[in-house]
Amino acid sequence: MTVTGVPVSLSRSRTAGAVPTEGPLVDRFGRVHDDLRISLTDRCNLRCTYCMPAQGMVFQDRADHLEAGEILAVTAVARSLGVSAVRLTGGEPLLRRDVVPIVAGLAALGFEDLAMTTNGSRLAALAPDLAAAGLRRVNVSCDSLDPDRFAAIRRRGRLEVVLGAMDAAEEAGLGPVKVNMVPLAGVNDDEIEAFAGFGRDRGRIVRFIEFMPLDGEGTWARGDVVVADEILERINRRWPIEPVPGPDPAPASRFRYLDGAGEIGMVASVSRPFCGTCNRLRLTADGAVRNCLFSDEEPSLRQVIRSGGGPAEIEAVLRASVWGKEPGHGINDPGFLRPARSMSMIGG
Ligand code: 5AD
Ligand code: SF4
Repeated sequence: MTVTGVPVSLSRSRTAGAVPTEGPLVDRFGRVHDDLRISLTDRCNLRCTYCMPAQGMVFQDRADHLEAGEILAVTAVARSLGVSAVRLTGGEPLLRRDVVPIVAGLAALGFEDLAMTTNGSRLAALAPDLAAAGLRRVNVSCDSLDPDRFAAIRRRGRLEVVLGAMDAAEEAGLGPVKVNMVPLAGVNDDEIEAFAGFGRDRGRIVRFIEFMPLDGEGTWARGDVVVADEILERINRRWPIEPVPGPDPAPASRFRYLDGAGEIGMVASVSRPFCGTCNRLRLTADGAVRNCLFSDEEPSLRQVIRSGGGPAEIEAVLRASVWGKEPGHGINDPGFLRPARSMSMIGG
């Protein structure tokens, strides 16, 4: 039984008490946080309909973006507290001019996994340097395999560039490429089988992501969401699938084709919240720590660092943020309020 996706046992295990001062980054519900998502910028060269408005997006002041050295100062502390995986996001992380040195700096800290989510527009040119700097793999966003529809959803950008970027990433050793697809009811949901087939043919892992109330226009409606059950049923009808056994690395549930032609991922944030096993922590481009996509609590590490704080102060902020994490995001609760920041301002 779950309450907004949180196992009841978890919501009852809440313990009172002070923020721990040693051990891993753990919250009041025992969830250990070992996965850090770092947004390198809130800027993007595209304007995907489910993420940003066509015009008038207000961006953060660039002077407020953490510098490379500040990002590395935070991640070094996170590493020392047991964070083992880092994903770079945005906005579009490849718009950062110093992205390659940042990747190199992170790689030197020795994370088990170092990945990036990108829209693919600049990936082809940068893939070899990113791989040489120590990036392991990429997720590339792509929501239609039809050039016109792709252009309509993204408002800018071309399908062939993104498909070419996937090839270039694989050639550079950043594979297997994962393809992030957000199905939108009545827009591109007729392409679910086509995407599954594309992944099977190319050896890419397509991750279907339920549309979340984090769009920049604030028009998200439940009816726009194509839910996991429907996606899985449709794929299963064409090519039978089964869950991949073993613990799911939150948030994507894994399914594999019975005929051995690879697997897909399902990020069912809305219909099957996975908050109960969430191990994620986020650092926004302007240096705020977010313990959840849907939380508006965000202590500023930028202020801590720029007022002279060192590793001990950074550690204290990270620990307190994780400790204060809520059991679940509450999207399905009647009183749910969407967060003030949209996806590109937080980091996907
Ligand atoms: N709902 C679901 N996914 C989203 N993304 C951006 N906005 C939304 C949203 N409102 C996805 C992008 C990208 C990843 C970082 O998040 O497609 O792949
Ligand atoms: Fe840019 Fe990614 Fe948002 Fe699209 S989803 S507008 S590519 S940040």
